[in-house]
Amino acid sequence: MSAQILDGKLLASQLKARLSEEIRDLSNRVQEAPRVFSIVVGNDPASLSYAASQQKTAQSVGIQYELRHFNSDSTSQEDVLNLISELNSYDHVHGIIVNKPLPSHMNFKTIINAITPYKDIEGMNLMNFGRLLMGEEGIFPCTPAAALELLKSSGVALKGKHAIVIGRSEIVGKPVAMLLLREDMTVTICHSKTVDLPFVVHDADVVIAALGRPNFVKGDWIRMGAIVIDIGINHVEGKLVGDVDFASASAKASHITPVPGGVGPVTAVMLMNNAVKAFKILNQI
Ligand SMILES: NC(=O)c1ccc[n+]([C@@H]2O[C@H](COP(=O)([O-])OP(=O)(O)OC[C@H]3O[C@@H](n4cnc5c(N)ncnc54)[C@H](OP(=O)(O)O)[C@@H]3O)[C@@H](O)[C@H]2O)c1
Repeated sequence: MSAQILDGKLLASQLKARLSEEIRDLSNRVQEAPRVFSIVVGNDPASLSYAASQQKTAQSVGIQYELRHFNSDSTSQEDVLNLISELNSYDHVHGIIVNKPLPSHMNFKTIINAITPYKDIEGMNLMNFGRLLMGEEGIFPCTPAAALELLKSSGVALKGKHAIVIGRSEIVGKPVAMLLLREDMTVTICHSKTVDLPFVVHDADVVIAALGRPNFVKGDWIRMGAIVIDIGINHVEGKLVGDVDFASASAKASHITPVPGGVGPVTAVMLMNNAVKAFKILNQI
């Protein structure tokens, strides 16, 4: 079997086209476009490049984007919290992004939880996490949402199927597991203490790999015909590779996401999708 590729770039461009249209309609209705505000503290290259790509994606769908770039040495956590408090109070700001990593004198959780839940478009604060857990509407994390979009794009019915999520981080593993549970899948969460991971993975109809170990999940762990969503992003000898050994896994899977070009491009669009959700909530549309 040679797996069908779940093409993240293609899906991202289709989702962007749909989102642009929705934003045009919404902006006509309320005479205002969604606006997001992104905060970077320091000069970490990953953080700066993520902010640049947010700006590109935002502008491509008609979302206004503003960046505040703080100097790490002269900025306290209080300064960032004060800015968030200001942004929370502005009607014309619909989404707030705090880029990671933050400098060591700042606490990411404290900062993210200061954002009013409706403007938390990364879906990372406790209120949104609670809503995800309780099966309520809310704004949910972008990478897990992107993984689910790609999974749905396979066209395979998910209800009742067994999903194995490898990884239990708060950013990826746990929220993706909760999203799959909301789709009526049977979900198993694995982590570094799971005994005999290959055996557990072999029972999966859907494998979601989010462990941050290059090429770790091998083809002979995968049941014939399973769907494989690779969330991993690892830099190996100047190249990006996923958590799944693509060559061997694609010989077993029915559908598989590549790295790069899988979950990554869709994640950027899900952030803007969350901004539109926030815009609608704040405008009571
Ligand atoms: N595509 C995107 O847009 C996107 C966005 C965010 C992250 N990512 C990528 O997704 C991956 C995971 O990110 P993360 O932030 O969730 O990483 P993380 O915080 O380091 O968590 C990794 C998880 O994997 C588990 N794990 C590690 N080694 C394992 C092993 N040998 N067997 C089984 N489980 C193992 C850990 O278990 P314990 O809990 O027991 O330690 C942990 O729960 C990374 O490659 C990251 O770059 C991609």
